[in-house]
Amino acid sequence: MNVMYKIPLFDLNFGLEEEQAVLDTLRSKWISTGPKTTAFEADFAGMLGVSHALALANCTVSLHLAMKILGIGPGDEVICPSLTFVATVNAVRYVDAVPVFADICGDADLTMDPLDIERKITPRTRAIVVMHYAGFPCAMDEIMRLARRYNLKVIEDACHGPLSEYGGRKLGAIGDVGCFSFFSNKNISTGEGGMLVTNDEGLYEHAKLLRSHGMTTLSYERSKGHSTGYDVVESGYNYRMDDIRASIGIVQLRKLGDDLKKRAEVRLWYEDAFSAVDGVCVPFSGHRGFVSNYIFAVLLDVSCSRSRDEVRDALHKEGIQTSMHYPPVHLFSIFREFSGGLPVTESSAARLITLPMYSRMTKQDVGCIAQSMNEILHG
Ligand SMILES: Cc1ncc(COP(=O)(O)O)c(C=O)c1O
Repeated sequence: MNVMYKIPLFDLNFGLEEEQAVLDTLRSKWISTGPKTTAFEADFAGMLGVSHALALANCTVSLHLAMKILGIGPGDEVICPSLTFVATVNAVRYVDAVPVFADICGDADLTMDPLDIERKITPRTRAIVVMHYAGFPCAMDEIMRLARRYNLKVIEDACHGPLSEYGGRKLGAIGDVGCFSFFSNKNISTGEGGMLVTNDEGLYEHAKLLRSHGMTTLSYERSKGHSTGYDVVESGYNYRMDDIRASIGIVQLRKLGDDLKKRAEVRLWYEDAFSAVDGVCVPFSGHRGFVSNYIFAVLLDVSCSRSRDEVRDALHKEGIQTSMHYPPVHLFSIFREFSGGLPVTESSAARLITLPMYSRMTKQDVGCIAQSMNEILHG
C-alpha cells in the first residue's frame, strides 16, 4: 500500500500464495521459460476459451509479434486509437507501418468509433488495433463486420480487459490476435509480463518461433532430452517470459474472478456516489456486462469551472491519488506527423481523471472520494 496517499490509485492483490509460488519455482531450480510458463499458458487459454496462448516478456512485444505474424509491414496503414497507452501505437511503428488514428465515440464511451474507423479506411489499410478502455468492450460486432468487408486483420489490445465479456465471448478472443499485459498495476500482475492469444494454429506457431530467436527448440526441451540441437529459421527475438513470473501468474489467474467481482461492486458504489455529483460524467455508466474494471475514469463536464489539473491537485491534497489515462498519443512529438483531427479524443482526454480502483477498496473510500470531488467542484 502506498504510504503517501490516504487512498492510492491501485493496490496489488498479492498474498502468501504468490510468495509460496515463487519460492517453489526457485527451489525447483528451473527459473527461465519452462513448465510453469507452459502451465500458465494452458490456464490462460482455458480461461479465455482460445486454442493458443503464448506467454511473453510484456504486452508491448506481444503487440509487436501480432504485427509480425499478421504480415503488417512498411507502408501498411493500421487504424488505431489515440486514447491508449503509447505501446499500442509504438508496435505499429516497429514494423514501419503507418498509424492512422481513429476518434473515440464520446464522453460516455471512450472506445474507438466504428464510423470514424470506416472513414479512415483506405486501399493501404491492413489492420485495425482496438483497445478496450478500462475493460469495456469496443463495438466488436461493427468492427469485425468492417474487417470482413475490407479484408482487414484485427488485433485486440486487451491489456485492460482480462475476463471482460462481449456478447458471451471474452475480450482478446474475438479478433485475429489478442494481447495482454501483466505489468504490476494490471488486473493480473507478474511485475512485467504479457500474453498473445489466437485461435489460429499457424499464427501461434509463428509467434512461438519469433519469441525465442527463431530457434526450433527451447533450452527446457533440450534439458529434458526432448531434442539435442536446434536450427534458426527466422530472425527472431528474446521475448520470453520466465517461470518465476509465470508461477505468480498462475496464482493471480486463480484469484482473478473474485477480484473482478469485487471491482464490479466498487464500480457500482462509484456510479451511485457520483450520481449526486453535478458536473462529472461517468463513462460506460449503466454497462452491465461482465468487465474487468481495470481503472475507473471520470470526465469533468465541458462547462466545469475548474480545470482537470486543478481538480487533480486538490484531490492530491486530500490524500487521494489520481492519474490520467491517457494523454492522446497523436499529440506526442514523435507521432505529430501522423496526427489528423481527433476532436472528440482531444476534448475528452483534456477532462479525464482516473480515480482509485482496486478490489480492497471500501464503500467509505468511494464515498470519501465523491464527497471530496463535490467539495472541490461546488464547495
Ligand atoms: C492499453 C495498453 N497497451 C499496451 C500496454 C503495454 O503493456 P506492457 O507494459 O506489458 O508492455 C499497456 C500497459 O500499460 C496498456 O495499458
